[in-house]
Amino acid sequence: MQSHERSHHMNRVLIFDTTLRDGEQSPGASLTSPEKLEIARQLSRLGVDIIEAGFPAASPDDLEAVHRIASEVGTDTGPVIAGLARAHPGDIDRAWEAVRPAARPRIHTFIATSDLHLKHKLRMTRSEVIERAREMVAYARSLCDDVEFSPEDAGRSDPAFLVEVLGHAIEAGATTLNIPDTVGYMTPDEFSRLLLHLRRETSGADHVIWSVHCHDDLGLATANSLAGIQAGARQVEVTINGIGERAGNTSLEEVVMTLHTRRQHLGLDTGIDTTQIIRTSRMVAAYTGIGVPPNKAVVGSNAFAHEAGIHQDGILKHQGTYEIMTPETVGLDRSRLILGKHSGRHAFRIRLEELGFDLDEDAVEIAFHAFKELADRKKSITDADIEALVADEFYGPEEIFRLADLQVTCGRPGLPTATVRLIGPHEEEHIGVAVGSGPVDAVFRSIDDIVEPPVTLVEYTVHSITEGIDALGNVTVRIVDARDPEHSGSGHGADTDIIIASAKAYLAAKNRMIAHATGTRPEPTETRDSRSDGDMPRADENGS
Ligand code: KIV
Ligand code: ZN
Repeated sequence: MQSHERSHHMNRVLIFDTTLRDGEQSPGASLTSPEKLEIARQLSRLGVDIIEAGFPAASPDDLEAVHRIASEVGTDTGPVIAGLARAHPGDIDRAWEAVRPAARPRIHTFIATSDLHLKHKLRMTRSEVIERAREMVAYARSLCDDVEFSPEDAGRSDPAFLVEVLGHAIEAGATTLNIPDTVGYMTPDEFSRLLLHLRRETSGADHVIWSVHCHDDLGLATANSLAGIQAGARQVEVTINGIGERAGNTSLEEVVMTLHTRRQHLGLDTGIDTTQIIRTSRMVAAYTGIGVPPNKAVVGSNAFAHEAGIHQDGILKHQGTYEIMTPETVGLDRSRLILGKHSGRHAFRIRLEELGFDLDEDAVEIAFHAFKELADRKKSITDADIEALVADEFYGPEEIFRLADLQVTCGRPGLPTATVRLIGPHEEEHIGVAVGSGPVDAVFRSIDDIVEPPVTLVEYTVHSITEGIDALGNVTVRIVDARDPEHSGSGHGADTDIIIASAKAYLAAKNRMIAHATGTRPEPTETRDSRSDGDMPRADENGS
């Protein structure tokens, strides 16, 4: 059964996750291929219906990453794997090449429809846009049975023109029509009216799935998406933690938990396993380096914390007094202690499997040693600790320089001083020494002593992964190249010692920058520079 039939029959809202495409366009969020694959696996565990795995025409690396996800995650029982393409044959060919190995591939093609974009970006007339949309949807459909079409900047487009373009897209074979509020301009009542209008006036509207894609520039992305759903959309495009271009996209957890918590009122469902939400949120935050604000709905660290005495008293008497959903529903099970110092290899391997990590024997052995080392320093090891440990060991950027030893002296009187020993790409040893304004600053300077390029630290956050004095500290840093501020990188590191976690995070960010500079991936600047309009990696949408 096609996904659109299923959603009509079951009043089911399809969840289209674009964390790896629109989300990855967040400034500083470039992900490595293994990180993308691991996030895709987790999205599949979470139960999303469609993963937009990337924009294959953006670079050979993007194509390769989408191809890998299509091959390894797009199985018979897995999600649909979509690749984005401008309405241009070259883009569509690359998207098809990338998603083809999936059991259920999708090509998602788009062209802008607002007069503003037509005049200043595309320099095309309305009839040229119709012609292009028609031709490219038909071309995509000649390759793939599942084709999504988006009129970019629909929120600011003339509804009458949209009706025309969308009618042609349906006739040319589109199976999903996605309505983007590309610049986050609409209000919920307007967006709802637009959806109703398009569904009523577009010829062939009943034969396709309608989808919504909102941006959060005015903080209305979730409200607008829900308004679209109430007006008949049965696919919603979202990202984990709401990451994305500028103020971000609609966040998956907010839409899903609204549909779940207010099921009686809205009468709609999703296929999401809500207990996987926190885990997915943490993984995306760790890999992208974009932290979650403590007060963020559903996934913020304070989302289930009750501070006021009157609230605590109420919660103790009855959980429902101040909680509309339980922490367990989203996978926040703080009390569960998993493993400890005496746990053996077997128990550890089983826990890894239960957490969904698919590691070979050698990798399990490496992870087990890291676990034992951690268990010496920390009494009880939770799922979150194991996830951080595995992320640290296996899914970070390539370790071009790795940390061997670190010593720091600080306090008053005296100068905070760090001595670091790193092992370089040819197993050679480097020693760096530096004085800083504090211990973390001294560590970063000592690494700068050894590892190019010179950088500026723009973000440094530390948070504890679990509770207690022996908790793992998770540090995220974002740096920019001091000679080229458009070139940025992020890294994270976890350790019970936050100075070591800081060193790991800083080194990971620098390793990522080196990897980009040496061409294993394109420079983030290549894609960001040209995003002058909307949120696409390249602005020459007409492909000329
Ligand atoms: O925001 C937007 O318009 C997009 C489209 C490519 C769907 O991301
Ligand atoms: Zn978008």
